[in-house]
Amino acid sequence: MPLIQLARGRRQEGPGRRTLVAAAGLGLTAGLMPRSTMAEAANSISLTPPARGEARSLQAALAQRRSTRSYTTQALSLAAVSELLWAAQGVSSDRGLRTAPSAGALSPLELYVVARHVDGLASGVYRYAPAAHAIERTLEHRGGPELSRAAGGQPAVAAAPLVLAITAIPARTAAKYGARASRYVAFEAGAASQNVALKAAALGLGTVVVGAFDDDGVAQALGLSAGVRPLALMPVGRPG
Ligand SMILES: Cc1cc2nc3c(=O)[nH]c(=O)nc-3n(C[C@H](O)[C@H](O)[C@H](O)COP(=O)(O)O)c2cc1C
Repeated sequence: MPLIQLARGRRQEGPGRRTLVAAAGLGLTAGLMPRSTMAEAANSISLTPPARGEARSLQAALAQRRSTRSYTTQALSLAAVSELLWAAQGVSSDRGLRTAPSAGALSPLELYVVARHVDGLASGVYRYAPAAHAIERTLEHRGGPELSRAAGGQPAVAAAPLVLAITAIPARTAAKYGARASRYVAFEAGAASQNVALKAAALGLGTVVVGAFDDDGVAQALGLSAGVRPLALMPVGRPG
């Protein structure tokens, strides 16, 4: 896989693997990062820091958000992918709190990206690491026809240059909230998906929440571990 150098990322070479260490996008240094975050960062691709200003207002994004199911074949930029992921689950506070609210701040959501046509990104399935604002490729293949089949052949899922998958580890929330966890986790997925939809509108991109799919089929296509549940797919592309 080609080495991808993005803004403010620090470059490191690992044995047999080319790596980028992230963290700089959030002003974190290795010394301040928890051990798990450092491990996450070891094989990751750093993403561009979230933009501080937005060309379009929130009001405009709210007015323009519309479910969009048809896209051009134009590739997405890695910067756009970075913005979408940050909007969904980016860390936005020194305490590690995120852009979407989370019951008890337990953050059960895990984001995956199925990249098919993204400039500078090899195709495959990537997992988002919020603390490092980085992505790590978890699968080189899959996420293609398998994912479309699991979504009943919906054209939006089949043809989009990128599909963002919102998944959750409900046990994280259930450990504290028991039976109420399922409503809390669904609520959080809704908040994250709306953040993505508004960010997509602000970037002039189109997306749609896809909830009609076979859970096991999507889990298989994304290579999810046991205990990780897919909740929504969001194909993203330039409206066309
Ligand atoms: C939970 C949920 C699941 C959805 N599942 C699908 C789906 O599987 N396929 C699809 O094309 N649209 C899906 N949608 C999008 C709705 O069809 C869409 O929001 C609705 O038609 C209203 O249009 P709007 O989003 O442009 O306001 C889903 C929306 C939600 C909130």
